[in-house]
Amino acid sequence: MAVDVLLGLQWGDEGKGKIVDVIAPRYKVIARFQGGPNAGHTLEFDGIKHVLHTIPSGVFHDDKINIIGNGVVIDPVVFTKEIKGLHNIGVDVHARIVISRKAHLIVPSHRLLDQASEAAKGKDKIGSTLKGIGPAYMDKTGRNGLRIGDINLPDFKKKYEALVAKHKSILAQYHDFKYDLADLEPDWFEGIELLRTFKLINSEYVVNNYLDSRQHILAEGAQGSLLDIDFGSYPFVTSSNTTTAGACTGLGVAPSKIGEVYGVFKAYCTRVGSGPFPTELEDADGQQMRDVGREYGSTTGRPRRCGWLDLPALKYANMVNGTTQLIMMKADVLSGFDTIKICTGYKFRGEVIDHMPYDICTEIPEPVYTEMKGWKVDLTQITLEADFPQELRDYIKFIEDKMRLPITIVSLGPDRKQTIVR
Ligand code: GDP
Ligand code: IMO
Ligand code: MG
Repeated sequence: MAVDVLLGLQWGDEGKGKIVDVIAPRYKVIARFQGGPNAGHTLEFDGIKHVLHTIPSGVFHDDKINIIGNGVVIDPVVFTKEIKGLHNIGVDVHARIVISRKAHLIVPSHRLLDQASEAAKGKDKIGSTLKGIGPAYMDKTGRNGLRIGDINLPDFKKKYEALVAKHKSILAQYHDFKYDLADLEPDWFEGIELLRTFKLINSEYVVNNYLDSRQHILAEGAQGSLLDIDFGSYPFVTSSNTTTAGACTGLGVAPSKIGEVYGVFKAYCTRVGSGPFPTELEDADGQQMRDVGREYGSTTGRPRRCGWLDLPALKYANMVNGTTQLIMMKADVLSGFDTIKICTGYKFRGEVIDHMPYDICTEIPEPVYTEMKGWKVDLTQITLEADFPQELRDYIKFIEDKMRLPITIVSLGPDRKQTIVR
């Protein structure tokens, strides 16, 4: 058996949460492998919208095991809010969620460090969600971090205090930054108590044992490939490997055990936060995408920047991920445009190229577009592929041909039911 990976091919918010929920019935285990509360994964069914940050998107199915893997960073405060929300609607959280002992903790001073660092960067800020992600991963790789397994050690409090002392000395260097850590700590320690009630596991063994017993596992990515710490538009990225390789290190799965790689992309592009975005539209077309697509961040509520689909970027993401099938989201949002543009190349230093240059931050490549006829029909009620307008078929075919990959699912609305499996 293999681990299938589902991840975002753009700058996050592609619709990963919705699709994990839709295909969860095919799996026994759903596992998050990186990221943390910077993620906001939205699911809609029975007229209700749910947003998950740390918890895998298989949690609404009663017979699934949801693993928070070692590659994830957990903020007990956000985790507590999520758990309470799920518990209140009758989800048996303790039966469905297990947590890797090797996942790292976000402490309140990580959030403060994130804020202080962003404030000091001024106009060069990353546009971080300010959830403490960067500082928590810095402590992980700097070998100072606290792990979930540590919460049951007798000297946990001492370890916590040693880490906070380090953070205070760093915070002291941001002279204008004022904070009140004592105000943040009670909720955090309450969250630690809640975490102690969950089953903490050696998730690399658990995952591999499931594989050996021929159970199907789905790894759920957070963020998107263009926010990957190595392959994204550095430094405007997140602090983890959001690509397929991240599923190996974030769960303890060998590369040879990876099966399908589902690459999720929007029929257009969005980005929240700073950083280069070659096909960005700062005009009425961009506003139409934002309005129709309700493009406001699931975690921070910030308006998302919108633009046309970028095929050189998509191709790059498929290359580094080894995508085996594509899933196209939000085609319904493009209804009504007379013409739809697709970026098929970049004008860069006098040449037309179709690859990603090394540094797209100082010199943003200029998109070269192919224009296609748009469709005027509302797609949100369509339940059969046979009812797709010809222009949508042409759009799908164009992307499949350019990417040399099949689009196996087309999503036409936020609800579980608004999904066409081809
Ligand atoms: P994720 O982070 O990749 O899980 O994506 P988000 O949940 O942050 O953002 C996707 C947004 O688009 C959410 O508000 C979803 O409810 C919504 N959504 C997902 N698929 C579709 C779709 O096919 N059409 C429309 N109109 N909305 C969708
Ligand atoms: P999901 O899983 C979209 C962006 C932030 C910022 C940069 C760094 O919902 O797709 P960080 O908080 O990680 O230090 O922020 O990455 N970002 C996301 N954008 N979707 C996400 O997650 C994101 N997680 C982080 O806006 O630009
Ligand atoms: Mg999101």
